[in-house]
Amino acid sequence: MSQVQRLLVLVAMMMVAVTKVASHDYGDALSKSILFFEGQRSGKLPPNQRMTWRKDSALRDGFDIGVDLVGGYYDAGDNVKFNFPMAFSTTILAWSVLEFGNFMGSDLSNALDAIKWPTDYFLKATSIPGFVYAQVGDPYADHNCWERPEDMDTPRTPYAVSKQFPGSEVSAEIAAALAASSLVFRAIDLEYSARLLSRARTVFEFANQYQGSYNDGIGRWVCPFYCDFSGYQDELLWGAAWLFRASKESNYWNYVVENIHNLENTVVKNINGFSYSGGSYAEFGWDTKHAGINILVSNLVMNSNPNFSPFIPNADKFVCTVLPESPTVSVQYSPGGLLFKPGGSNLQHPTALSFLLLVYARYLSQGNRVIHCGGVVATPARLIQVARGQVDYILGSNPLNMSYMVGYGNKFPQRIHHRGSSLPSINQQPGPIDCKGGTPYFSSNNPNPNLLIGAVVGGPDIKDSYNDSRADFVQSEPITYINAPLVGLLAYFKTH
Ligand SMILES: *[C@@H]1O[C@H](CO)[C@@H](O)[C@H](O)[C@H]1NC(C)=O
Ligand SMILES: *[C@@H]1O[C@H](CO)[C@@H](O)[C@H](O)[C@H]1NC(C)=O
Repeated sequence: MSQVQRLLVLVAMMMVAVTKVASHDYGDALSKSILFFEGQRSGKLPPNQRMTWRKDSALRDGFDIGVDLVGGYYDAGDNVKFNFPMAFSTTILAWSVLEFGNFMGSDLSNALDAIKWPTDYFLKATSIPGFVYAQVGDPYADHNCWERPEDMDTPRTPYAVSKQFPGSEVSAEIAAALAASSLVFRAIDLEYSARLLSRARTVFEFANQYQGSYNDGIGRWVCPFYCDFSGYQDELLWGAAWLFRASKESNYWNYVVENIHNLENTVVKNINGFSYSGGSYAEFGWDTKHAGINILVSNLVMNSNPNFSPFIPNADKFVCTVLPESPTVSVQYSPGGLLFKPGGSNLQHPTALSFLLLVYARYLSQGNRVIHCGGVVATPARLIQVARGQVDYILGSNPLNMSYMVGYGNKFPQRIHHRGSSLPSINQQPGPIDCKGGTPYFSSNNPNPNLLIGAVVGGPDIKDSYNDSRADFVQSEPITYINAPLVGLLAYFKTH
């Protein structure tokens, strides 16, 4: 057989493999994927809180320095508020609603609540001109304890970036989150939407005027947890692209077009000790916005200028690094079909990259385009099929027949690396459990007493095996940016 014939057979086999899998209750998974964010809430919980084993926590964040920093999300299985990844999760939740909100049905209002919770907090974190709060909570003290958020007695230190100690990555990502969210709320609450957009402008201006990485000012506290590895040019461009989409002002458009080449020159460095290949167009995650910028911008020019360089060629190249049959594929796939990248918490990659594939597929359809990866033609339908395969894997179409979303399906992770979920709730045990008082619960082999419904964990290894163990945080810890792209994906698959 020729190379091409062999590829065609491979594609045909993959299609069979994809169509054979059991269908999933995407609507149920969508509701749960949003509910997860209620379990991550910090601050004073509202009367309509549905995840009721969680209670108020961290009600005095910022008070020691006279700033109200109450609210926002705990990042993962710990109780720190890391604003850089929190902002990325918020941007993606907003993008999910902008693209797929029409398909969310009664879950749309819950998705809006999941966005407003962090945007209310970001308005507080950016309320003092010339400062942006980048994090709340001493991460070393926090990680040294296994404590419910409701019991926290570790230092809730706020860390800020400023003109003198800038942090363009965290500031510009917050600007992106505020701008994207302003679009979400425009039809619902015009006044709130205007506030978000106006703050997005100021925060972006601060990020751009005082350029620098927060690694240099508060690196001792943000690293190694959320060190900025890939520079801040991508966040500046991403922030400007969202500000353009929200404001339609040409200065933001010009900024993106004039500065995109800064990104080309930025080498994507290694993350968690793994060096990333694929150049400046193939990455997308809390630290690296490159592929997202190209795809976001492509939508604005798809009809008028379908070869608009470098955005559309780079968006195409991104797709060719992901599709399994592409000659330039640079991600790996497990034997069971899971997209895999090194560095830990792998499910962040299949969710984020599948989200981009789905979004781009829809833009391509509108522009009547297909992509050529060498001799392989990638149609929008094929992009959607690959994305669906990843979602199905996560929901249980995998060699272990196991869902990686807590509370979805018959078999799902029981011992997730999550303090609140693994300790008895306040309802069960009202008295405090101190820092080391939680250790026996961490070490126990019992299932977690509180279901963090909808949480998607870091996921299996590249051989499709999964350790259902709290100690294995790489596999068993949920994180907000694993779930955020799934919200959009599930909304689409629920109705298609
Ligand atoms: C998964 O399900 C398939 C089909 O029902 C079955 O053949 C296989 O043995 C199951 N695998 C495991 C690990 O349970
Ligand atoms: C995963 O489980 C295996 C087998 O129980 C164990 O040897 C390994 O250390 C675990 N991995 C981690 C990171 O805990």
